[in-house]
Order: sequence, then C-alpha cells, then structure tokens
Amino acid sequence: MTELTFDIHAKDGDARTGTITLPRGRIRTPAFMPVGTAATVKAMYPQDVHALGADVVLANTYHLMLRPGAERIDALGGLHKFMNWPWPILTDSGGFQVMSLAKLRKLDESGVTFQSHIDGARHHLTPERAMEIQRLLGSDIQMQLDECVRLPAPEADVERAMRLSLRWAERCKAAFGTQPGHALFGIVQGGESPALRRASAEALVGIGFDGYALGGLAVGEPQDVMLAMIEASAAYLPAARPRYLMGVGSPDDLIESVRRGIDMFDCVMPTRAGRHGLVYSRHGRINLRNAKHADDPRPIDPESSCEAARIYSRAYLHHLVKAGEILAMMLLTTINLAYYETLMTDIRAAIAAGRYADFCAETKARWARGEG
Ligand code: GUN
Repeated sequence: MTELTFDIHAKDGDARTGTITLPRGRIRTPAFMPVGTAATVKAMYPQDVHALGADVVLANTYHLMLRPGAERIDALGGLHKFMNWPWPILTDSGGFQVMSLAKLRKLDESGVTFQSHIDGARHHLTPERAMEIQRLLGSDIQMQLDECVRLPAPEADVERAMRLSLRWAERCKAAFGTQPGHALFGIVQGGESPALRRASAEALVGIGFDGYALGGLAVGEPQDVMLAMIEASAAYLPAARPRYLMGVGSPDDLIESVRRGIDMFDCVMPTRAGRHGLVYSRHGRINLRNAKHADDPRPIDPESSCEAARIYSRAYLHHLVKAGEILAMMLLTTINLAYYETLMTDIRAAIAAGRYADFCAETKARWARGEG
C-alpha cells in the first residue's frame, strides 16, 4: 500500500473537507490543481503558484514523454527537481491527451499507437508504459491509462471504452506494484449513462485504488448532465477515498461538484483564460479585451488577497492585453489562480462551518451582480 492518507475533517451534506497527506506535502481538500502540462504552470514561477495556495500541480505524461522524455527527466533527478516544485505532483496518464492532440491514433487492447504532434514520431503507449513513465517522473499521484470518448457517442462505444479502461486499470495496478509514498488513482468512465458509471465505479473499487477520478466529463455535455454523472458515480465510491473530477472546470462547476462530494479538480481554465485576456473574480468573469476597460482606473478587486488584483488598474491590464505584453499573461494568470485558490479556501471554510448551501447562494449572487 501507499502512504497516502485522507482525513475528512468535516462534512456538510455530501460536501466534505479534509487533508490528503503525502511525503512531499499535504493537500487541503477540496483542492484545485493548477495545470503544469509541460513541467511549468505557464507564465508563473513555481514558488508563486504555491504561495497562491496550490498544494499540488498536475503534469502530463503525454507531453513529457514526447519532450523532453521521461528517461531524461529521471536521469536529471526527477520532475520535482527538474521544475523546482518540491510539493506533490499529480500526473495524468496520457490517454486523454493522445485522443485530443496526437495524430493518426490507433487504439487496441494493448494500448494506443500515435504520432507525436511535435515531430510526427511514432509512439506506443500501453498501460505498463504509462505507469513506467509516471514512475520515472517521480509523480506522487499517478493515473491509470484510460480511454475517454467524446460525447455525445453511441452507448455501445461508450461501454466498449469503459470496459477497456477497466482492463487497463487492472494492468496499471499490477504495473504500479508497491511504491511507498506514491498513489495510484483509477478513472471512472461511462459517458452519460448512470448504469455504465455505476458499473465502472463498482469494478474499479473491486480492483482497489488509493483514490478515484471521474473522467470523460466536461467534454461537451451540459452542466446538468455532468452533475448527474457525478451523482451516479460518487454514490458507489468509498467515502474514505479522495474523488477527483478531471478537467473541470468553471468556478460554478467547482462549487456544484463539491456539493456532490468531489475533493479534487484540475483545469486549464484559469491559466489559459488568463493568457487570453479573461479574468475570474468575485464579481464574475471580466473580458479585459473589451474597450470599455480602456479608461477604467479601478483594480480587478480591491479586497483580493492577490496584489496583482488590487494594484493594477483595469485600464492598464486592458492595455497590456491589447499590446500582447508578456506581463499581461503573468498578471492575469496570477489573478485567476489566486481567485481559484481563494475560492477553494472559502469552500473549505464554508463546509467546516456547516454553511455550504448559504455560501454557494451568496457566491452565485455576487457573480450574477456582475463586474464590481
Ligand atoms: N482529463 C480530463 N478528462 C479526462 C479523462 O477522461 N481521462 C484522463 N486520463 N484525463 C482526463
């Protein structure tokens, strides 16, 4: 077994707040994990990401196996040292990124063959190789290889991918073996079918993982479908193990998913949006490209704990965005990650205080009132 422990401190309805403890640090849950695909949270110093409240970042097997290569990172002392992030790292397994990024994919029982989107080189990713790469990286929380189908899809396709993912889950668990201090998560698939979600969750629990992720969501379905699938899966997952909703989401997705028992999230939204002139704040989403900000002397949020949100005027940020300045990406990514991490801190406090429903209502009302 691993040394991952998960202590739940408080529950409010199905929402829970707790702490995951790993040798490299603790993860306060519900947790938002900034995405550091290529061993960097784009436009950010690692220490600043941590200072904003992130206890863990996500990195990607797919990108790192292609460039600079898992064996190279291992020879250089592992991913934590390579990227100067000494705290926990979760790595995705590559299956999802192969499906969305690689060229000429061919999937069979053994794994997936694909051409690199960088140089066209052919690669074969099997469950065993996905585990080996994550071990070489030194990942603290490793994900099974899975197949995620894009929705909507015929139920027969969804079921085939779900059953393949279960067989790969068994192979990943065997390949993971025992790695003291490192954890392995299974991934629930099953598209928009509650019955398939339940079957997937129950089979994964039968195999036995340190935590359980929900995959194949936020792939084009409406929010109410996603939330229904969370309910259909979480009910069959052990309460004592962390639940991770992959690739989600907007601030509203986060609070609604936490309400249904989710403990961990990752999403490119705050970082990618920040590089494109969009800001998330207590007053909702602000598009700084809009000309109405050109003469606005107000900061994004004078009450924010984030200096970048308090100091710089909307007019200045608008100018930086329009001029394509590097500082625009740095400041907006900082502001967005600060907002996401503050939201998680507030979510944890509201659950601990037993006022999660009121917190959600107040937060949504403030977003709806607009730009502050
Ligand atoms: N990221 C977002 N969704 C998924 C998924 O279904 N599987 C994996 N491995 N990663 C994801």
